Amino acid sequence: MMKDETGSSSSEFEAWRAAFARHLAPTSAEPIGLVVDRAEGPWIVGADGRRYLDLLSGIGVANVGHTHPRVAAAVEAQNRRHHHVMVYGEYIQEEQARYAEELCAATPAGLDAVYFVNSGAEAVEGALKLARKATGRLRYVCFAGAYHGDTFGALSVGGNRLYQQPFGTLLSPVQVLPFGDEAALEAIDDTVAGVIVEPVQGEGGVRVPPDGFLPALAARCRRAGALLILDEVMTGFGRTGRLFACERWGVVPDVLVLAKALGGGYPLGGFVASRDLLAVLAQDPPLSHVTTFGGHPVSCAAGRAALQVMLEERLPERAELVGEAWRASLRARLEPLGAQDVRGLGLFVGFDLPDAAATSRFVTACLERRVLLGWTLHHDNVIRLCPPLVTPSDVLTGAVETMAEALRAVT
Ligand SMILES: Cc1ncc(COP(=O)(O)O)c(C=O)c1O
Repeated sequence: MMKDETGSSSSEFEAWRAAFARHLAPTSAEPIGLVVDRAEGPWIVGADGRRYLDLLSGIGVANVGHTHPRVAAAVEAQNRRHHHVMVYGEYIQEEQARYAEELCAATPAGLDAVYFVNSGAEAVEGALKLARKATGRLRYVCFAGAYHGDTFGALSVGGNRLYQQPFGTLLSPVQVLPFGDEAALEAIDDTVAGVIVEPVQGEGGVRVPPDGFLPALAARCRRAGALLILDEVMTGFGRTGRLFACERWGVVPDVLVLAKALGGGYPLGGFVASRDLLAVLAQDPPLSHVTTFGGHPVSCAAGRAALQVMLEERLPERAELVGEAWRASLRARLEPLGAQDVRGLGLFVGFDLPDAAATSRFVTACLERRVLLGWTLHHDNVIRLCPPLVTPSDVLTGAVETMAEALRAVT
């Protein structure tokens, strides 16, 4: 039996593969199927013992890199102290309280309390409920192409009918406006409870709005008395070259929704707002919104360590600088080969390929060359790239050459 350096054998890996195929609920007919042994920095090491470059960060999670030693140490320390001890909001747990404090210090002024949950969709649900309870209104506004998660509430404010239709009656009333169109914002009036928006649409195809859009949206929400809910699940934690993308436009939301990189590789979501606003969920009746595992102490320890690494190593600034150079090099190398409109902010990058078939061939050709990337959920001809913010520049340059080679091979 072949053993690799961790002691796992190839027949064991085959057994995992078989269990995956038989016993894990599928999400598509063609999963990527990479058998993972371990992961470190921008690398995922497969069962074949070879390193794969993760240009997806596990879809926007591993912003400080996979299995960061400081995160692993924080998790180990918390593991020695305690795991779950009580439902959220009752006991005082050091890592949860300290992470809340440090997170609120890092988010825009006025956002001084966080409600921790377990995932992005759950944080969106909390924000949507908060908007109704705080305003006494029912209506929501969202944007075409948006993705906010797959629970019923989050799906209801998604911007793609394809994923809503199979599930029947959703939350209503919801009005969908065109993304990036300032004139359309006039539809936001004093019947709207909350407006939810991604500062840069991710699954909608890595779409950066015109500079005036988010400030105009914030002003419109303020006039209408509607809560502005910024979903920074994907764009948060340095991804776009700012710690939070809203900083780029000087926009302060009423509610900031976070997840993915928030937990440093562990499951964690949160919605951040003023303490007065969040207090609405604690009254009439008390315990209006509760969760068992929200703000799990191990996830908070992991997330806290990751945020400290991000701030100490100035990873948002690095993403801004490295991202600009990377986009220029992607443009120079890939656009002559048929890629179009290389775009993005920081290390959140997208480009178009001619159609879904070419995109699928390109993704497979990159996988064969051990570079992991993919298309966006709502646009199967858009390649999305979001590497860990710690990926060395020469590795990013090498990835451009691999992508060029893959593109040449499939077009
Ligand atoms: C912008 C955005 N919001 C919300 C979500 C949902 O997060 P989760 O998958 O943790 O529920 C995602 C997930 O991809 C996302 O990209």
